[in-house]
Amino acid sequence: MKTDTPQTVHLKDYTAPAYLIDTVDLDFNIESGGTTVSATLAMRRNPAVQARPLVLDGEELETLSVTVNRKNWPKSETPSSLTLSDLPDAFTLETVVRIDPDKNTRLSGMYRSADGYFTQCEAQGFRRITWFLDRPDVMSTYTATLHADKTTYPVLLANGNPVAAGDEPGGRHWAKWADPFKKPAYLFAVVAGKLDVLRDTFRTASGRDVQLAIYVEPGKLDQCPHAMAALQKSMKWDEERFGLECDLDHYMIVAVGDFNMGAMENKGLNIFNTKYVLARSDVATDVDFENIDRVVAHEYFHNWTGNRVTCRDWFQLSLKEGLTVFRDQEFGADLHNRQTARIREVRGLRAAQFPEDAGPMAHPIRPASFVEINNFYTSTVYEKGAEVIRMIQTLIGRDGFRAGMDEYFRRHDGQAVTCEDFVAAMAAASGFDFTQFMRWYNQPGTPHVTVDGFFDAESKTYTLTCTQTNPRASDDAPTLIPIRVALFADNGDLLSGTERTLHLTATTQSFVFNDIAAEPVPSLLRDFSAPVVLDFDYTPEQLTLLLAHESDPFNAWEAGQRLASTLILDATAAIAAGQSPVWPDSFVNAARRLLQTQAERGAAFVAEALTLPGESTLAEAMAIVDPDALHAARNALRRHLAEQLENEFASLYVALAPTGAYTPSSAEAGRRALRNVCLAYLLELDTEASRQLAFSQFNSADNMTDQFAALSALANVNAETCPQRETALADFYARWQHEALVVDKWLTAQSTSRRPDTLATVKALTTHPAFDITNPNKVYALLRAFGANLVRFHTAEGYAFIADCVLQLHDRNPQVASRLARSFDRWKKFDADRQRHARIALEHIRDHVGLSRDVLEVVSKALG
Ligand code: TRP
Ligand code: ZN
Repeated sequence: MKTDTPQTVHLKDYTAPAYLIDTVDLDFNIESGGTTVSATLAMRRNPAVQARPLVLDGEELETLSVTVNRKNWPKSETPSSLTLSDLPDAFTLETVVRIDPDKNTRLSGMYRSADGYFTQCEAQGFRRITWFLDRPDVMSTYTATLHADKTTYPVLLANGNPVAAGDEPGGRHWAKWADPFKKPAYLFAVVAGKLDVLRDTFRTASGRDVQLAIYVEPGKLDQCPHAMAALQKSMKWDEERFGLECDLDHYMIVAVGDFNMGAMENKGLNIFNTKYVLARSDVATDVDFENIDRVVAHEYFHNWTGNRVTCRDWFQLSLKEGLTVFRDQEFGADLHNRQTARIREVRGLRAAQFPEDAGPMAHPIRPASFVEINNFYTSTVYEKGAEVIRMIQTLIGRDGFRAGMDEYFRRHDGQAVTCEDFVAAMAAASGFDFTQFMRWYNQPGTPHVTVDGFFDAESKTYTLTCTQTNPRASDDAPTLIPIRVALFADNGDLLSGTERTLHLTATTQSFVFNDIAAEPVPSLLRDFSAPVVLDFDYTPEQLTLLLAHESDPFNAWEAGQRLASTLILDATAAIAAGQSPVWPDSFVNAARRLLQTQAERGAAFVAEALTLPGESTLAEAMAIVDPDALHAARNALRRHLAEQLENEFASLYVALAPTGAYTPSSAEAGRRALRNVCLAYLLELDTEASRQLAFSQFNSADNMTDQFAALSALANVNAETCPQRETALADFYARWQHEALVVDKWLTAQSTSRRPDTLATVKALTTHPAFDITNPNKVYALLRAFGANLVRFHTAEGYAFIADCVLQLHDRNPQVASRLARSFDRWKKFDADRQRHARIALEHIRDHVGLSRDVLEVVSKALG
């Protein structure tokens, strides 16, 4: 028996809603056996649309009553729809339903977590709470009243402002909230729980005071100040950079340990995964602190880009997500270190988005169709979407972009709009013609740009000829690609006047530089000015020169990555052919110079420059991936560097030792990052001394960054016995078993380990008390991280294991199961034997009776 083919939804089929909902009054009666939701909707026909029956969305609702203008009305009900016909032009619809949040394992709609009840309505969770027109172009004004037991649920929250509260018989109480802003249903939220709160305030540029509150599990208040500071910094930054002020009197963040994604921008009542709120230096790493800054900012920035101006339909998701990621990236760059922020963004894009765009789930940043919208909260929509916004800024300049943002809000505040509307505002404000650029919204695939350089000594010209291709696109038409360039002399000087942004608009196009005395070294795609793969036939000497002298830190880093990629890919081929790799001295010397100049170039930059490209990124450059050879080659280069530079790594490790107690500043974080890179290289030496060094750092660290770096390095040690490894893992768990987020780190250290027995370890951990398949963070930390462990996952047993896990999860939590199923995306890049096993695993999932729509879409696309 096969599952029914689920419906595909197409962008081209969009039609405006037949009815509008002006006001929504909700009443939640929360009791132990279930919650009753009474909804009063003031509705009217959409005058712009021909008369049609009203079809409301619902899911897992038990309907108790439906009235129109207080009278019973003929209705036809299916599990997912409630249809009412012959309605007046304007009317009041009242429904009463029962829901069972305690049994809601999907974490969409209203659900239970340890400390109470929470909601998640994006994208289509509101229909799991009440009958509704659950689509973002229906915007309404909401009130919400909650009733619950006062002792168990002392905190009752909803969007907007508190308007009234009181006690009820039987030890119960109630609270009513009113949100003055119109919003789509996906931004609705309520919380009822026992939570501690950290309060503060923010005074806006125009002098209004906003009450800030962060609600967390009791006992965790000392892990909230960082998130509170991040919120205040975000509010200030958005005023300064974009002139955007907070429009609310109350801004609340609630942290919950069970959450499918990172966080949610519900109007005035953000709900966050604890992972992006809780931090204290002994439990959170520098990367965690920075991620919290960015996610807090991201959700706050959504208040304008997403909430005040929202999406017409879910195909437009990148309208709010790409733009808001771009904004949080810029905030992070201003707050921390602009150079390394950009490097990390691109590293992430190449590790996740490029493979996605080359695989079975490839889609434009604005997809043309989907089966399950939750499958399209992807790195393409988010991260590539942010790159597209960044290109707009590159094309029209920062001031032009700011003017475009102003125009966007002037035109569309309070509306639900499309990506075209956004770009039209940018065009109007700048005069730039974005017609060709719109292709970025509509085509999948990573464009490849091949560049040739030609120096003509006689005419003193240097000509760059660029050719673009995108085999994934539906046709051969070219797109507009901004390519920032500069030319360098062979002494490393930037040739003045050669810094330009080329607008590549044709399939092949030449750009001429005049007055060039000698053959220059071109630096191409500076600051990663477009999300493309750029090929230029560089010599190692040219790349070494750029690594040493390029003033754009991104392209200096990029030159090093190019050098390393070539070496590792050549070595992979050599190892696969039974030969030993050869490593040129020039690469070692370049690495040595980086270590020697870390003070001038910045420790954080040098740490990035000494981190080799990841295996999943390198795999994309291979015709058929041999994960064992690739793994061996990359590790062999690491070991070679460690052997050649042992003294340099060892002395820098000592020189960078902390001079005082931990501070989270970006300068200190950079020092720690580089010192931990040195430590990890030293561990490649397989010496007792290096293991002892890691073990002693593990024991003496006063912060999680250093403790966890030591643990991760030890977790990779592949000796028959490494007592320090076992002791460190045991001690870490013993010490942190009551801190859920630290336990996640402990799981990830093991599931991402290079050791050949990693699969066996991961399997064993699934029955360890530390693991809980009902908790998304645990699934991501152990199973999804294992699925990204290229060399250990891509085996017959790895495939079978993850397939089993997907099936264990698909019913309980389709969103999380579907994300886990994405581990298989690149299976067709591997050899025939691996493909055979991957196919068996994928078919095993696909043929499961009653498979969830989310997983079915991912798996059928993978097989298709
Ligand atoms: N809008 C959220 C964000 O990017 C994403 C999100 C949070 C989400 N929870 C979700 C998306 C659940 C789908 C399902 O900030
Ligand atoms: Zn977002």
